Amino acid sequence: MAGDGAGAAAGDGAGPVVSGGGRWVQRSEVPADARFFGLGGRAAGPRLRDGSYRLWNTDPQRGFDPGDDPLYLTMPVQFVVSDAGTHLAFHDNSWDGRVVLAEGEEGAGSGHDRPGTSEVRMTGGPLRCWVVVGTPARVLHGWAALTGAPALPPSWALGPQHARWGFGSAREVRRVVAGYRERGLPLSALHLDIDHYDGHRVFTVDRERFPDLPGLAEELREQGVRLVSIVDPAVKAEPGDPVYDGGAAVDAFVKDARGLEVRGVVWPGECAYPDFTDPAVREWWGGLYEERLRQGFAGVWHDMNEPVSFVPFGDPTLPRSARHALEGRGGDHREAHNVYGLAMARAGYEGLRRLRPDERPFLFSRSGWAGMQRYGGTWSGDVSTGWPGLRASLALVLGLGLCGVPYSGPDVGGFDGSPSPELFLRWYQLGAWLPFFRTHAAIDAGRREPWEFGPEVLEHVRVALAERERLRPYFTTLARLARMTGAPYVRPVWWGTPEDRALRDCEDAFLLGDSLLVAPVLTRGADRRAVRLPRGCWYDTATGRAHEGPGQVLLDAPLSRVPVLARAGAVLPVRGEGGELVLEVWAPAAGRTGGGLVVRDTGDGWEPASIERYQSRLADGRVVVERVTDDGVEEPGLPVVVRGL
Ligand code: GLC
Repeated sequence: MAGDGAGAAAGDGAGPVVSGGGRWVQRSEVPADARFFGLGGRAAGPRLRDGSYRLWNTDPQRGFDPGDDPLYLTMPVQFVVSDAGTHLAFHDNSWDGRVVLAEGEEGAGSGHDRPGTSEVRMTGGPLRCWVVVGTPARVLHGWAALTGAPALPPSWALGPQHARWGFGSAREVRRVVAGYRERGLPLSALHLDIDHYDGHRVFTVDRERFPDLPGLAEELREQGVRLVSIVDPAVKAEPGDPVYDGGAAVDAFVKDARGLEVRGVVWPGECAYPDFTDPAVREWWGGLYEERLRQGFAGVWHDMNEPVSFVPFGDPTLPRSARHALEGRGGDHREAHNVYGLAMARAGYEGLRRLRPDERPFLFSRSGWAGMQRYGGTWSGDVSTGWPGLRASLALVLGLGLCGVPYSGPDVGGFDGSPSPELFLRWYQLGAWLPFFRTHAAIDAGRREPWEFGPEVLEHVRVALAERERLRPYFTTLARLARMTGAPYVRPVWWGTPEDRALRDCEDAFLLGDSLLVAPVLTRGADRRAVRLPRGCWYDTATGRAHEGPGQVLLDAPLSRVPVLARAGAVLPVRGEGGELVLEVWAPAAGRTGGGLVVRDTGDGWEPASIERYQSRLADGRVVVERVTDDGVEEPGLPVVVRGL
């Protein structure tokens, strides 16, 4: 790869090394001060330290921690930040491989820096590399231009969601939803896991436990709660099963070289796997979502699509020799594996668009690959319940955002076991600031309803939920901006100042859009925490106190809240007491101006939206907010609340 300046280093002149069997290695150098990010969802991130990161989508088959790698969603996308600049390197090759990273070292005074290195080692496939160079914002804009704009989730998908493997019955679903309602807790969606299926078979309903699912969906809908359905790719391999028969009739299932169906084992037992790399199979599969819509579901949750086949040891997926259409080229699982989830997402997204053209699809998927943002978002998968899992939750969201997938979030509370009330609360207080905000847990895990952790936790959860709802217009704006510009909602703190080395190493806080800096509590027993600030003036939103960056401040983090700072001058849209749109403005620092963007909620359809631009300044000690139009400036036309003065 060629590249000079701006941090994209060409290496030491050594070209790629190609060895036998189609394997190749490409080594690049980066400046000694560079930091690596990306490579998809990495629990040990967001900063990727020295190590070997495999490119092979993998279900760890148990709750994972920061030490577990790889996970469900890998991508050959490196995001590199150094003093010299920022770049993204994409190796457009879906084969199994690994990226070996070594950070450089600056030669303390000796003048001899040791550059960092990145070695991409692929087991096959082409050496086809793209490099996008610029500021972080420009890099992600370029990346979205290359691989597609992020799908815009429907408005309701920015609200709080609740799931569980094992609600088990319509009665339990009603009980949980009533629990939210009776306590006045907002709830946007409830997710049904595989236990609502008949014998764990995809596109079926257990009619004993859910006798009238469309009726239940309608009843919940009247209360403002949508139902979301899990969709697993593997189909019970049983002649007579309508989905299986339908798939067999269109020759949908993955076969081996002899033409025999490749079978694996998933929740329903022995299964066949649709080959989503075949356009005709995607068309057939997309049509099956008609049944989900008839049942009253408003969105889908793709799971087990690495794809998984349970095995007691070895690689829990399809054999490498399994044949795939690969868009007509033909090939095998070595090439198709990493794009299986991506192609399934495409099938689901396109199916939903055909079946319900007036509404934006809601789809998120455990596995995926570069470009999956076109079809939807993702979530952490089975993050283990513990403080390390909480940290991994943030790492995944940040890393995926830098790979172009802006909509994601963890299983709040962790997937397995039972979090302590404190851990649950801290997880909740993180989740409330992330795009996809959903509690979820395994069938044998403890409860995750917020009232199950005692009255004190419930009160603090209430505050987090109220703040999430108050900030919905801001989330709506960030969702639109992500689609228009590729910029994730959740950004590393160095986003606007990548030259600030101390920020590059800060992994426990994030920017939410341009205006807010969120510093979640990721350790047990903390009631204050250090927060590293980018340059400029920042207000602690709880106390209104101003702090000048760059630098580090120690802020209170009582159980009732986590530190959140607002950038001086920021103008952000919030929901007023009566539900109306209000501009919240944080006083600009003396001699400086500020501003913000607003995109209004246009509902769940396809109406275009325009960006409104506001600016803030100080005039005679008063904060003035104006709307910037093509012709100049005008009154904002919205109520304004000034803070920080
Ligand atoms: C997988 C998913 C998890 C789901 C479970 C049962 O482990 O990651 O979210 O609850 O399968 O469907």
